[in-house]
Amino acid sequence: MLKTNIITKGFKTAEARWARFGPYYAMFPLEFAFEVVDKYSNPGDYIIDPFAGRCSSIYAGGVLGRNSLGIEINPVGWLFGTVKLHPADKEEVIDRLLEVFGNRKLYQNEIEKMPEFYRFCYCDEVLKFLLSARYNLDWRNNDVDATLMSILLVYLHGKLGDGLSNQMRMTKSMGMNYSVQWWKKNNMITPPKINPCEFILNKINWRFDKGKPQITESYVIFGDSSIELNSITEKAQLNCIKFSLLFTSPPYFSITDYHADQWLRLWLLGGDENPQTLEDKYKRRFSNKLEYYYLLDNVFGLCAKLMKRKSTIYVRTDKREFTFNSTLEILKKHFKKHAVQIIEKPLKIDTKTQTKLYGDKSMKPGEVDIILTNSKK
Ligand SMILES: C[S@@+](CC[C@H](N)C(=O)[O-])C[C@H]1O[C@@H](n2cnc3c(N)ncnc32)[C@H](O)[C@@H]1O
Repeated sequence: MLKTNIITKGFKTAEARWARFGPYYAMFPLEFAFEVVDKYSNPGDYIIDPFAGRCSSIYAGGVLGRNSLGIEINPVGWLFGTVKLHPADKEEVIDRLLEVFGNRKLYQNEIEKMPEFYRFCYCDEVLKFLLSARYNLDWRNNDVDATLMSILLVYLHGKLGDGLSNQMRMTKSMGMNYSVQWWKKNNMITPPKINPCEFILNKINWRFDKGKPQITESYVIFGDSSIELNSITEKAQLNCIKFSLLFTSPPYFSITDYHADQWLRLWLLGGDENPQTLEDKYKRRFSNKLEYYYLLDNVFGLCAKLMKRKSTIYVRTDKREFTFNSTLEILKKHFKKHAVQIIEKPLKIDTKTQTKLYGDKSMKPGEVDIILTNSKK
């Protein structure tokens, strides 16, 4: 019997409570992630996801007793993933919250110079508190700071009352001008009065209420998989490790800019005050066909060296011609001995596809699963 009931039974276990941690654009439906791991691997197997997002694949692997390894280039996805796999101790997170809150008074002058957007989005107490977190939390290197920061990221914006902000979407940060105009038009220029310490303390207490999840050795690396996979391959060879399941969803060609879409969360992590389209490769929308093809070719080629002969490659992607054809061609090239199965996802019935979650309007026409299997040892 599939252990997905850990997840589907609301928030009754620590595993279920942490599983949904972190809103992210184009995330896997949770039950789907658990079903794939359960069907195509066994406890003790190794699983890899080179485009991990908020790490549902890796988390499902860890909960179901698989050793799982993710790679993610976007700090927001990485932080959600790394914290849900290994949250710090609750008491330490609360102590740090109190410190950050205590330091907020230092930032009174600074908030007065901030763009109108921030003043409409957050009340003064929240904005000072956010600046204190932005300047003081060492989220890359310290697990307590990472846990607190990731909880702040979850509640940074959302429906009025659900988060620290004025009315906003949750998965994606809206543009500055758009938001300001929208708040003005809807008579909402006064942000909600919130005591951020009390608000976040409640969220910490709720998240930890059932404890921490039980996870088999599982990690997510912060970086570019086309680089990180080289050292992973070396380490795996040294330790005689081979992977049984590659389970991923690569970025879709020309659809999403994962960094620009998370600009406000990236600001809290120390990024620019204004929304930015980054110049770095793989940190902006994929609009160059060669660069996109090269990334998939490189990453799946490197992954192929890590996989057992008897393994499954499960890739969820976009049905659109260029993304689908390139992905299929590349997978067939690197996994020549595997049999290929293609499952189309009918959009109109499946309301839980990645793109439809949170009522997203920038619809893709559909998704498709490419499954490659080789049952010979
Ligand atoms: C379709 S999303 C994956 C969503 C994921 N399945 C989930 O449930 O959250 C693709 C992810 O690939 C990441 N990505 C793109 N290029 C990358 C690279 N070179 N190395 C690692 N991650 C990359 C993006 O930041 C994005 O989070």
